[in-house]
Amino acid sequence: MATATGELLLRERPATLKTESKSSPTDAVTAMDRAAEELISATLRDLRPGDGLLGEEGGERAGATGVRWIVDPLDGTVNYVYGLPLWSVSIAAEVDGVVVAGVVRAPALGRTYAAYAGGGAWREDLEGRGPIRSSEVSELGMSLVGTGFGYSSERRAEQATVVAALLPCVRDIRRLGSAALDLCLVADGELDAYYERGLNAWDVAAGAVIAREAGAEVRGFTGRWPDADMTLACAPGIADRMVDVLGLPAIP
Ligand code: IPD
Ligand code: CA
Repeated sequence: MATATGELLLRERPATLKTESKSSPTDAVTAMDRAAEELISATLRDLRPGDGLLGEEGGERAGATGVRWIVDPLDGTVNYVYGLPLWSVSIAAEVDGVVVAGVVRAPALGRTYAAYAGGGAWREDLEGRGPIRSSEVSELGMSLVGTGFGYSSERRAEQATVVAALLPCVRDIRRLGSAALDLCLVADGELDAYYERGLNAWDVAAGAVIAREAGAEVRGFTGRWPDADMTLACAPGIADRMVDVLGLPAIP
């Protein structure tokens, strides 16, 4: 399903892509975001008619099975619109309110990341399929940290102060543009950490289970942390320092 949706987005992207605005003028949605969500929604309706759904583009239905699918049909819409390859399809399965499995497909990178609770995390690409682990870094000063920014200027102004405090303490910062993929890169050790405030469930659900299953510390949105609005995924060896420098409540 994630692969088929990725193919749709990759192959049927029109040369000129019209965008509409959502929460702010820079928060874009395209007909392709909607077509991708429709494909996932229709597939799930056929395969799992009694399940619930939460999709970024408004797809919401109540279920009767205790299973709910949390879907970001195109995470990284701005990259997609500009023709940058860092975008993904993110699909997670939640059972009785707990996310138990997730898949993130990045078609322009030819990569799929997936995990299920207790089953580990893996990556599949042209070279095959293999398990992934988060990095073993133990020094914040040697860590490559990803982050992202919301769409409102007020939120960005606050996020800028957080980045300003962090930048002198780390190896470098990356803003790649797809939260789902950022979490997978932490899972795969290609980023040492990723944090962002204000994400939605569809941005995080699949990537968080993949990062956790790959051995990363995952806090916030899906965890037990009091600061529920902040998502942090990082190598265990730098978790306390990240929390400290970001000025967050301590990990219980
Ligand atoms: C966005 C991306 C981005 C993150 C934003 C998200 P969208 O999702 O994940 O990296 O920084 O907060 O809203 O709008 O491309 O689906
Ligand atoms: Ca998203």
